[in-house]
Amino acid sequence: MKTYLVTGAAGFIGANFVKYMLKAHDDVRIVVLDALTYAGNLKTIAEDIDNERCFFVRGDIGDKDLVETLFKEYKFDVVVNFAAESHVDRSIENPQLFLQTNILGTQNLLDAARRAWVTGRDEQGYPTWRDGVRYHQVSTDEVYGSLSAEGFFTEQTPLCPHSPYSASKTSADMIVMAYHDTYKMPVTITRCSNNYGPYHFPEKLIPLIINNILSGKKLPVYGDGMNVRDWLYVEDHCKAIDLVVRKGREGEVYNVGGHNEMTNIDIVRLTIKTIHDIMEQEPEYRKVLKTDREGIDWINDDLITFVKDRLGHDQRYAIDPTKIHDELGWLPETPFAKGIVKTIRWNLDHQDWIADVTSGDYQKYYEEMYAGR
Ligand code: NAD
Ligand code: TYD
Repeated sequence: MKTYLVTGAAGFIGANFVKYMLKAHDDVRIVVLDALTYAGNLKTIAEDIDNERCFFVRGDIGDKDLVETLFKEYKFDVVVNFAAESHVDRSIENPQLFLQTNILGTQNLLDAARRAWVTGRDEQGYPTWRDGVRYHQVSTDEVYGSLSAEGFFTEQTPLCPHSPYSASKTSADMIVMAYHDTYKMPVTITRCSNNYGPYHFPEKLIPLIINNILSGKKLPVYGDGMNVRDWLYVEDHCKAIDLVVRKGREGEVYNVGGHNEMTNIDIVRLTIKTIHDIMEQEPEYRKVLKTDREGIDWINDDLITFVKDRLGHDQRYAIDPTKIHDELGWLPETPFAKGIVKTIRWNLDHQDWIADVTSGDYQKYYEEMYAGR
């Protein structure tokens, strides 16, 4: 049995990862550490932590005493760090929190792992490490900056982040690599493109658009809508992380992407059409609509409103996943056409979850973030 510390697993990707791991491996035990910020929801993993192989601890990855105690108590073999402030727009409003969590929080986890896992020193003075341990950092393609119309991010692409969010994730990656180069710590990093799927918080493009359509609201598209993202179904990302943790080479970075580049405006139009078609073919779903509007003819492109662009908006992200494919045999399994329908259906079928996460501070956030646009 291996014991994993999975941080940030009350959030979108971490929760999907815990669900995937508990299903895929009988010999894995998981301790979730999550601060339950606005982005974390314990209900998302309620069924999973009600399991003898999965426990939940509420706390901050930056809390030195807590993290050290957890290492002593559970004797972790693996750390997978998802915990982060993850939204670019919020990082533009409040950069400091991003540096605090994403950089210092990561460093605190690395240090606790180092204290727990080092067994001695070799003749050159480098630490020696307990067998089978691994620190894995969940990073993002945004560390590479922005592409123009041509080319892809490879692991050799220079790091060139633009937003406070991506700058903080880049700093974290560099600290992770510094622990590898200085202490020979067994680390790996994955840099993934934009994820979508179940439990996605409706501040990010796809779940926000779905939620706004269901609420009969306008669909805010930044700038001209021609920015490109490379979308990956979340479970494919989870499988990639699992592979890299178990089989990836120490000290290596692996890019993870779906070869699914789409402009934002195309994503929004496809989402409108898919919801319209589901409502047409399965009218029982119309009960989910939270609006007084009659019928469904209003679910069309007229809902789109072009709003003021994001500051420093990266033009295009696109991943070259050759390395993870060649070394570990990973390929995305969910075509976007299928994944987006699954995601929309998940949203239609889980309106209680949506209501939960959009109550309280979400309304205030939405009004403030979109007021000036
Ligand atoms: P999310 O915002 O949905 O979830 C983040 C989780 O971290 C939440 O549960 C939150 O409560 C928790 N958290 C925040 N600060 C914490 C702290 N100080 N201590 C403990 N827990 C804390 O994020 P996500 O979209 O699931 O992203 C997870 C990771 O994947 C992040 O590191 C992000 O940078 C990375 N990533 C995300 C995407 C994407 O498309 N969403 C793509 C590539 C990489
Ligand atoms: P987002 O989901 O925030 O992810 P990221 O910025 O990390 O790529 O945004 C995806 C794209 O959608 C990005 O180009 C910004 C754009 N966008 C909008 O046009 N409108 C919105 O309301 C949001 C949240 C994003």
